[in-house]
Amino acid sequence: LAHHWPVTVCKMSANDCEDPPEYWTIHGLWPNKVDDCNRTWHFNVTEIKDLMLDMRRYWPDVLHSSQNRTQFWKHEWDKHGTCAATLQILNSQKKYFGKALDLYKQVDLNSSLLKAGIKPGSTYYKMTALKEALTRAYGVTLKIQCLPPEETIGQIEFCFTKNLELRNCTEPKGGSKGMQTGLQLGTGELSVCNDTLPTYYPLQTEHCQ
Ligand SMILES: *[C@@H]1O[C@H](CO)[C@@H](O)[C@H](O)[C@H]1NC(C)=O
Ligand SMILES: *[C@@H]1O[C@H](CO)[C@@H](O)[C@H](O)[C@H]1NC(C)=O
Ligand SMILES: *[C@@H]1O[C@H](CO)[C@@H](O)[C@H](O)[C@H]1NC(C)=O
Ligand SMILES: *[C@@H]1O[C@H](CO)[C@@H](O)[C@H](O)[C@H]1NC(C)=O
Ligand SMILES: *[C@@H]1O[C@H](CO)[C@@H](O)[C@H](O)[C@H]1NC(C)=O
Ligand SMILES: *[C@@H]1O[C@H](CO)[C@@H](O)[C@H](O)[C@H]1NC(C)=O
Repeated sequence: LAHHWPVTVCKMSANDCEDPPEYWTIHGLWPNKVDDCNRTWHFNVTEIKDLMLDMRRYWPDVLHSSQNRTQFWKHEWDKHGTCAATLQILNSQKKYFGKALDLYKQVDLNSSLLKAGIKPGSTYYKMTALKEALTRAYGVTLKIQCLPPEETIGQIEFCFTKNLELRNCTEPKGGSKGMQTGLQLGTGELSVCNDTLPTYYPLQTEHCQ
């Protein structure tokens, strides 16, 4: 379950970001192996109409805030959802998006960071301290990605078993840079944060000056 930091997503792109949320939002729920598993299973927003309030709030299309919001969800469904759907617990659009929202609420990353005293702003954090705080909160290691060269934190991924229980995120050798390159989001520029450098966790206002 990939969360992204909207302020950083906007920094990576010249798109029409307008007032990105200043809390972690969902990027996607990604099975780790394959892409675009069923091209005939089309995204249908009506199937998730009951989830719409949560979708808009927690899974917004940060980069295209003024356009049709469903494109981002369609992309995530086509690329990842159709693969996740081989699991019975995720085998419909409602289950896939609904489960991702449930997991997002369950891990409640916003609160865990706040509780650990890690707040966005003009201060820098030690990556090791940030990692330790998160490992303490969840009991598993997460994958944390930054936008170089400033090492601006951009994405935090939680890994789950097929039964959707938290597990450690493990890096394949050689890194996974480019593996989860989002077409619309350009996340190819992110890479695993460098443990030895200070990590920047910005608020939007600091970039408007
Ligand atoms: C692909 O999705 C369609 C529409 O839901 C379904 O009828 C078909 O069985 C699926 N194909 C596979 C290989 O799962
Ligand atoms: C989209 O889903 C709704 C609700 O399940 C259904 O009534 C409608 O026929 C679907 N539309 C398409 C184009 O499949
Ligand atoms: C938004 O996108 C969806 C899915 O691509 C499409 O069905 C719908 O007509 C679009 N709505 C608008 C207002 O453009
Ligand atoms: C994350 O933080 C924002 C802003 O504080 C809040 O609106 C949102 O409900 C939080 N998300 C969850 C899952 O609690
Ligand atoms: C996760 O990794 C830590 C070491 O980093 C280990 O102590 C722990 O047992 C692992 N947990 C699981 C569920 O594999
Ligand atoms: C992390 O940053 C240090 C200091 O700039 C650099 O020497 C090192 O090569 C970097 N490590 C990685 C994995 O990029």
